[in-house]
Amino acid sequence: MRRPYVIVNCAMSADGKTALPSRKQLRISCDEDIKRMYELRNDCDAVLVGIETVLSDDPKLTVKETYVKNPRQPLRVILDGCNRTPVSAQVLNTTTKTLIIVAKGAEKQFDDSHIEVAGCDVDTNGYLDLQSVLELLSKRGVKKLLVEGGGTIIWSFLSQKLVDELFVYIGPCIIGGKDTPTMAGGKGITDENEMISLNLSSVKKIGPGVLLHYKTRP
Ligand SMILES: NC(=O)c1ccc[n+]([C@@H]2O[C@H](COP(=O)([O-])OP(=O)(O)OC[C@H]3O[C@@H](n4cnc5c(N)ncnc54)[C@H](OP(=O)(O)O)[C@@H]3O)[C@@H](O)[C@H]2O)c1
Repeated sequence: MRRPYVIVNCAMSADGKTALPSRKQLRISCDEDIKRMYELRNDCDAVLVGIETVLSDDPKLTVKETYVKNPRQPLRVILDGCNRTPVSAQVLNTTTKTLIIVAKGAEKQFDDSHIEVAGCDVDTNGYLDLQSVLELLSKRGVKKLLVEGGGTIIWSFLSQKLVDELFVYIGPCIIGGKDTPTMAGGKGITDENEMISLNLSSVKKIGPGVLLHYKTRP
C-alpha cells in the first residue's frame, strides 16, 4: 500500500498521562518544546487528530507565526466516523484547509470551501479503516503525516504498525488518576508477544523535560 510517512508526537507527564483526569487539556511542554512541535507540524503535509481531541481541546492545529516565520500551514485532518465536528470548532477556521474523514454514508458537507468531508470504510472495531485513511491522504498529495493524538488514535496507528517515528516529550510532573488519558489507549495488548517494539534513536533534554525520539524500524 502506498501511504504517507507517519510521525507521532505527544507530550506526557512522568507518569505517562497526557491530560487532566477530567480529560481537559493541560500544558505539559515547555516553550522550547512547543517551538519544536510547531516546526515539526510545519514540516509535515498534514496533521491529524481524533474527534475526541477536537471535542475536549478545541485545537486550531495551525502553525503559529510567532514560532515559525511564513508557515506552510499543513492540511488539518480529523478522524470523525460519525461526523460530530461542531461547526464552531476552531479547527474549521479559515487559516487553512480541513479534511474531516467520516464513515461512508455520514458525509454531511459544510458550506465553506476550505472544509472537505470525505467518506471512508470502517474496520472491524467500528473505527475508520486506517489503511483507507492513509490511501485517501496519499491521493491528496500527503507524503508526511503528523499524528498528534489522542491516545485512542495513537493506539490504532501503533497497533496496526503504521507509525515510522515517534516523539515523546516527558514533562517533569505527575498527574495521576487511573482513568486519566495516556499516550496510547485503545484495547492494549493481550499477550507479551504482542508488545510493540520501538528503537530509541535519541534522548535530548529540552528545558526542564526530556524528548525521546523513537523509530519503529531498526
Ligand atoms: N498531551 C498530548 O500530546 C495530547 C494530544 C492530543 C490529545 N490529548 C488528549 O487526549 C484526549 C483525547 O484522546 P482520546 O483517546 O479520548 O480520543 P481521540 O484519540 O482524540 O479520538 C478518538 C476517536 O476518534 C474516532 N476514530 C475514528 N477512527 C479511528 C481509528 N481508526 N482509531 C481510533 N479512533 C478513531 C473515534 O470516534 P468515532 O467512533 O466517533 O469516530 C474515537 O473514539 C484528551 O484528553 C486530550 O486532551 C493529549
